[in-house]
This record gives sequence, C-alpha cells and structure tokens, in this order.
Amino acid sequence: MKTYDFDAVVVGSGIAGLSFALGLASRGRTVCIVTKKNRAESNTNYAQGGIACVTSSSDDFESHVKDTLDAGDGLCNSAVVRQIVQDGPERIKEMIQMGVEFSQLEDGRVSLGKEGGHSKRRILHVKDVTGRAIEQALLHGINESPLIEVREHCMAIDLITTRKLKKFGYTGTDDENRVAGIYCFNEVDHTVFALRTSSVLLATGGVGQVYQFTTNPDIATGDGVAMAYRAGAEIRNLEFVQFHPTAFFSQDGKRFLISEAVRGEGAILRNSEGEPFMERYHPRKDLAPRDIVARAIDSEMKRSGAEHVFLDITSMSKKELEERFPTIYAHCRDNGIHIEKDLIPVVPAAHYLCGGVATNLSAETSLKGLYACGEVACTGLHGANRLASNSLLEALVLAHRGVESVDQFLTEYPGEIDSLPPWVDGNVSNSDERVILFHNWSELKRTLWDYVGIVRTTKRLERARARIQLLSREINDYYWNFRVEPKLLELRNMVQVADLMVQCALQRKESRGLHYILDYPSLSPEALDTTIIR
Ligand code: FAD
Ligand code: SIN
Repeated sequence: MKTYDFDAVVVGSGIAGLSFALGLASRGRTVCIVTKKNRAESNTNYAQGGIACVTSSSDDFESHVKDTLDAGDGLCNSAVVRQIVQDGPERIKEMIQMGVEFSQLEDGRVSLGKEGGHSKRRILHVKDVTGRAIEQALLHGINESPLIEVREHCMAIDLITTRKLKKFGYTGTDDENRVAGIYCFNEVDHTVFALRTSSVLLATGGVGQVYQFTTNPDIATGDGVAMAYRAGAEIRNLEFVQFHPTAFFSQDGKRFLISEAVRGEGAILRNSEGEPFMERYHPRKDLAPRDIVARAIDSEMKRSGAEHVFLDITSMSKKELEERFPTIYAHCRDNGIHIEKDLIPVVPAAHYLCGGVATNLSAETSLKGLYACGEVACTGLHGANRLASNSLLEALVLAHRGVESVDQFLTEYPGEIDSLPPWVDGNVSNSDERVILFHNWSELKRTLWDYVGIVRTTKRLERARARIQLLSREINDYYWNFRVEPKLLELRNMVQVADLMVQCALQRKESRGLHYILDYPSLSPEALDTTIIR
C-alpha cells in the first residue's frame, strides 16, 4: 500500500471542498483533494436557482434571518443563522473576483431571483446554471495552485483514527481520539492507498441516491456521513430530508430539477383537473416553504390518483424563458414540452439533507482533526427545513471559516504518526454474485421512497428499519468477504446512512418542518436536535 503525506485532505470537489482547498493553500498548506468521479461532478454542478444573499438596499440581514428561521420551524440555531447571513456579502464579492458573472438586469444592476419562503428577491444567479458557473471558477483557481493535488476517480473509504491505530501498537501523546489519515480506493488501477494527515475535511455532499427518485446526481450516496459515523463523530437531524416539489416527471425515473425560481417568476402549480391548488394550503401559495408545497402536491396526487401535477409558466414568452432558464427550457423541449405553451409535468423528489455531521461555525466536528462543510455538515443553519438557496451560501461561509480553524489546528498540532497500517482487503477475489449488489441497491432505494418519504408513520418507519437491517447484514457480509469496489463501498455507506436516518426519524415524536409523521401531528413544546454517536 502506498502512503502520501499532506497537511490536509479534502474529500469532495463541490463548492465546499474546492473553496476550502483554495483558502488553505493560500496560507501555504499542502492539500490533496480526493474526488470519486471527475473533478466537476458534484451536486454543485447542477445547482440552478442560485445563492441567497443580502446584496440590495431594499433587503436586510434581519429579513433573511427571519425567513431562514421561519422555514427551519423552530430548530435553527439563530446565532449560526445570523453569522452565515452576515458573512454572505464578503463571500459573494470573492466569487465575483474569481470570475463568476452573476446575471444582470438591463440597467446593469444584479438580477435577483425569488424562491419559496423568501420574503424578498435575494437570489444571485447565473441564469439557471449557477452551480456550474461557480464550479468552473473554483476549478480554474484550483488548477493554478501548485499546493493542491487533485486525485480524480479516487473514492475515500474510511478515516484512520488514533483509536484504530492503537490496535496496531501506536502510542500517542494523549488519549484523545484524532484523525491520522484516510484510506482511498483508486478506481483506475483498483488499488487502495493511504493519505497521512492530521486534518480531513469532509465535503462529500448529500444522500439523495438513497431514494428511488431524486434530483441528485449519482455521487450523492452519503459517504461522508457514513465515514464520520464509523469514526465516532456526532451525527445530527438526519430525519430532515428535503423533497423538492418540482422535478420533471418522466417514465424513466430520472428527476431533472425545475427550479423554484420558475415559480419565483410567476409559475403556478395546477392539479390534474387544471385547478391552481396552492391557495388552499398556504397564504404564500406557490412560493410557500418547500415542505408545505411538497406535501400539498403529495396530497393532490394521492387524492386524484394522478402520477404528477403540472407547473404552468405560460405567462412568460419563449424569448424570456430561453434567456432566463435556458437549461430548463432545453430539457423540457427535448422531452416534447414547449413550456411557453405547454404545462410541465412535475413531482416531488428527494433533494437535500438538512442534517448531517454535526459541526460548529468553524466546521469542526466532535472528532479532533475532522472537519465537515457543505451539505454533509449540520451547522444549525437549516433547522427542520432549509430555506431555498441557502446551501451554496452556507458552504462558502463555512469553508472560509473552516480554513481559519484548520490552519490554526495545523500550527498547534503538526501530526506525529510515523506510519499507517496496511489496508486489509476481503481476501476473496471478485465475486461472481455481483448481481446481489444491484438487487440490494434498488431494494434499499425503494424502501426509503415507500416508507421514509414525505408523509411518515411509525409503522412505516419500523417496516423500513426491519428491511434496512436485513440489507445491512447482507451488504456487510459482502464487504468483509470480497475485494472492495466502488459500487459496494457506496452501497455500504447508503445502507449505513439509511439506518441512521430511520433511527433519527423514530427518535422524533412530533411533526416539525420536513419530518411529518401522522402519529404525532403537532409540534413538541421544546425544539430538540436528534443526535447519534456510535
Ligand atoms: P457536492 O457539490 O455534492 O460535492 C460533493 C463531492 O464529493 C463530489 O465531488 C463527489 O464526487 C465527492 N464525493 C462524495 N463521496 C466521496 C467519496 N467517498 N470519496 C471521494 N469523493 C467523494 N443549493 C442552493 O443553495 N442553490 C441552488 O440553486 C441549488 N440548486 C440545486 C439543484 C440541484 C439539481 C441539486 C441536486 C441541488 C441544488 N442545491 C442548491 C443544493 C446544493 O447544490 C448542494 O447542497 C451543494 O452544491 C453541495 O455542495 P457540496 O460541496 O457540499 O457537495
Ligand atoms: C432550485 O433552484 O429550485 C433549487 C434551489 C435549492 O435547492 O436551494
């Protein structure tokens, strides 16, 4: 097994990982980014709506804070919300300096979009390809930096901690469990290598792939949460999965996002009878917070038995639509829907994980040397439901603050581990029963969709738990007996995360934000986080 040394290792090359790596390298630190596909493949790359940030004189921090707290349904950490909102404008300035060209109005002012739960227009965007524009600007910076090495098609498997090393005779200077490195799988030559480092930033994004229907790309398999949990870090609030109300309905099961910004520009939801229904559910109608819109759609579909509802943006002209939403326009057109005159068939799909690895505002987790940032982290910003377009903002702010904290940590604790133990592989060569992996993969996704969805019951959650435990036994058996491969590693993480999600959901005996459970329809008087430590 080969071992390489870096000041810090970053797992993931979305907005969180890339901006953190750039910041740390600018302080003279060496950084290795491991990323499991090509460097641009991430949730970030598909972000459409934009970044919520107070940039106009008609907006103010208090209003953004209030909207975030309202969406979070009593569970946000208000100090965290305030800090992230206030740090936003500086981070946006840096994005602009890096070359992100946010869309402008004809008079040269920045064009601000509106999305559900926002009382003001405050979403900076690059048409409907905001994430791609940010990702490209950050990658440009990364390519220029001599202190950053990017290892593509390398998948982090597990953290190496001093507690694990003690089993191999390591004696550290203190008893505290710390990060000592990380094992990774190289998908090109099928070998495992180790990175020796005292600080690892998890920036692995979300978990959408545990659901049968999701807006997330294939990378979103919850690896960071699973690795952090196995290493002993605190995990928080995994029951809060955000279902985006409007994903394009297609029979192949793929769920392309139709941005909420489309509703921000006047689109309305109609049921299968053509009736606009949101006014029956919330005073903000089509721009109500996402949990409310998704549940309203779910209820309309259940009532009528229809496979989808419709989104109507025929109030905009073809020219306006092609200019403001070029990607959405093209996707719908390629699927036979001309959105200037046709209704768009839409359904909810799993979109965003509000919980994750618990961190403070410095991106520190409960495990020394382990940091987390972006969707994998749970800072307290989102509470029980994320306000639209707050996640890109959170990732930028936390990456910046995390750099400060890791830099200081590295000064105080440069690392002292001489060598890492070799990787021990399941000693049996590739299994001829690989098909089991695919069966388990689809069974897991269906289980989560059917039993841990938009509307929950204790009975359904218990059902999910029993199935997940069975799958978990089979998958772990496979993991320990056969040589590792990416699909198996991802499945092991997905089943781990699914189990933790159900554990969190069963802990919460109330309906709050995204966790809507028929057995406990009201709010508890006290808003508490759910936490899990191995
Ligand atoms: P990601 O961008 O998902 O990056 C994760 C990285 O980790 C990837 O490079 C992945 O390959 C890598 N990785 C994962 N596991 C491993 C492993 N084991 N080893 C190595 N590498 C690994 N939010 C907004 O604020 N505004 C929006 O407009 C918006 N639109 C969205 C539209 C869509 C379709 C989707 C899916 C999400 C949207 N979101 C939006 C949410 C937002 O995009 C994400 O929360 C955010 O981009 C997450 O960034 P990240 O850096 O944390 O993770
Ligand atoms: C969207 O464009 O609707 C997605 C925004 C988000 O998830 O924050």
